[in-house]
Amino acid sequence: MEFNKPAGENVFDNGKIVGKPMKRIDGPLKVTGTAPYAYERNDAAPDALYGYPLAAGIGHGRIISMDAEAAREAPGVRAIVTTLEIDPLEKGMNNVARLFGGADIQHYHQAIAVVVADTFEQARAAAAMITVEYEDGAEVNLDLDEAFRNVEGTGEPDTLVGDIEAAFRDAAAVIDNMYHTPGESHTMMEPHTSTVDWSDGEDMTVWTSNQMINWNHGSIATTFGIDAERIRVESPYVGGGFGAKLWLRADAVLAALGSRAAGAPVKLALPRPMVMNNTTHRSATVQRIRLAADSDGRLKGIWHEAASYCLPGGRGENATAQTPIFYAGETRRVKNHVIDMPLPETADMRAPGEASGLMALEIAMDEMAEALDMDPVQFRIVNDTQVNPSNPDIPFSDRHFVECLERGAEAFGWEDRNRTPGGMRDGDWLIGHGVAGAYRGALVLPSGARAILSGGKLIIETDMTDIGTGSYTILAQTAAETMGMDVDDVEMRLANSAYPVSSGSGGQFGAPSSTSGVYAACMALREKIAGNLGVENPSFAGGRITAGDTDIAIADVNEEVSAEDAIQWGDFQKGYAMGTFGAHFVEVGVHAYTGETRVRRMVAVCDAGRIINPITARSQVIGGMAMGIGAALSEDMALDRARGFFANHDMAGYEVAVHADIPEQTVIFLDTTDAVATPLKAKGVGELGLCGVAAAIANAAYNATGIRVRDYPVTLDRMI
Ligand code: MOS
Repeated sequence: MEFNKPAGENVFDNGKIVGKPMKRIDGPLKVTGTAPYAYERNDAAPDALYGYPLAAGIGHGRIISMDAEAAREAPGVRAIVTTLEIDPLEKGMNNVARLFGGADIQHYHQAIAVVVADTFEQARAAAAMITVEYEDGAEVNLDLDEAFRNVEGTGEPDTLVGDIEAAFRDAAAVIDNMYHTPGESHTMMEPHTSTVDWSDGEDMTVWTSNQMINWNHGSIATTFGIDAERIRVESPYVGGGFGAKLWLRADAVLAALGSRAAGAPVKLALPRPMVMNNTTHRSATVQRIRLAADSDGRLKGIWHEAASYCLPGGRGENATAQTPIFYAGETRRVKNHVIDMPLPETADMRAPGEASGLMALEIAMDEMAEALDMDPVQFRIVNDTQVNPSNPDIPFSDRHFVECLERGAEAFGWEDRNRTPGGMRDGDWLIGHGVAGAYRGALVLPSGARAILSGGKLIIETDMTDIGTGSYTILAQTAAETMGMDVDDVEMRLANSAYPVSSGSGGQFGAPSSTSGVYAACMALREKIAGNLGVENPSFAGGRITAGDTDIAIADVNEEVSAEDAIQWGDFQKGYAMGTFGAHFVEVGVHAYTGETRVRRMVAVCDAGRIINPITARSQVIGGMAMGIGAALSEDMALDRARGFFANHDMAGYEVAVHADIPEQTVIFLDTTDAVATPLKAKGVGELGLCGVAAAIANAAYNATGIRVRDYPVTLDRMI
């Protein structure tokens, strides 16, 4: 089905199932510990041996020799594969560093061996017996500030609108500041894990924890140079991803090599202390933001230049992603620099680009509001736009940013905020209030599904994943609504490479794309059923199929009917800017003597089209807000510049927000629909919930203390 014009009135407008709060279908399986995660496939691979990885102890250079002789003789060891025994493997999709093979070390904790043994403890003990001799690479400069100074002002701007120099000359107020965001790790609950059966070295089954079945399936074929037909990938339950599991990683590669070597299925989990340097992370950023405004608060110039790092061929973190489009402004200059550095791989993490960019831009907006002596809510309202400011012929498909700010201000009680930095106190705590705008693009991808009507039950098969987001549930709601059936009569089968290719889960495109794909498949099924019944355009409602004289219960359709289709996105969408919008309001307390910041309450307002399921959507947003607390106050990958690795590479040293850090959270969804976005008029919300949160906290901390911190995290040593 091609989506080739804005959605008109349709089945989803009746709001019977789509749009209603519904508890997670997979909830009971998860909370009772019975959902089969990739490392726990005792159902599918009960005899799996244990794999344990060995990781490089240098940042870059090469291996001169490895001695695994003693390890091979250790108790319980079935097989060992070292990187020197294997030709460098091809790289899968978006793998920047090689995952395994050869002597070259491109980053710290690169996988260099896998040990397979009868028990986990035996494998781990044997891995520790392998000795490695390295040759360090040449000295490298890992100073991102210095790199930024070297490239600043060079290269063609990515966006250049108007005479920006003149705008800054003539402005009533100008701000010009540097901002820093640190490297961040996804730190999802479940590490990267796979169980692989490649016992015969021919057909391969991969039970893994991954967001993107089809990409992963193709990457495994590329990496091992085998026919994709021989590979099956399943990932029905995923304990969080946040972007860390978009691509094939070493867990699956090592389990496969170990399985082939041992002639038995092998399961392997990357140990937590290896995840951060072995897999990917969000690059640190250095950002310079200059804003120029009129005395009436209108932005005249927005100048944003940023740098991040990656291994050669990577993408870094584009902190300027939102700047061309979010706020009005006559002139604009935007430039993102990507600096090659031999550090662990950088790639997407929840809201890649905007999450880091808004951490800086939304502080800058606060600073400008203060320079203009304006209410920061009002300042943002004045600078709203209904067209892409870098290309004014392109309107937004649907944008209610102003309403987000107004509704949020009301719900939060913004009128009663502290108006003098450092001027409000509750015992030993200085109280501050902050606001930030939120923006995240609304991407969609092609997405397919198969719909099968069998014995009164509807079965939906698609390779879509549920990474803890609620895909099972919203897809069942979509299918039930489209077929006029009860949700209880829908069986969801997800995340298997044998099923039609979906969008997968990433970039907050999963919900809008995959629900559209299920809708397309169900519409194809309706057509087939109608054809079988010999009727035209029947209605499917209340469990019945009706057309003219025909009126039969879906349960009475005897033969099994199956149809497959995918949603394709028509070019008409290119005539619109599609985004999701929000506003975050935060109250913090900063301890007057220690400088510790605690978040006391949070309000988020989201404008993301039709909300398919308010429970699962709210969970996404409060999860994003929790992640934003970590980003604001504690998360910081500590770089060892001499050796090129992150020193705090576990959950003891890398501190994410925990339950005790999370205050009262209020989430308000605007009652909007975006007919340009998808047939359901829905957009994603899972990344929007993070965007802007950290800046709202930093702004509140400034409001509490009068101390402006532009470098994250806002820790107590910076509150001096
Ligand atoms: Mo997302 S960072 O594309 O999982």
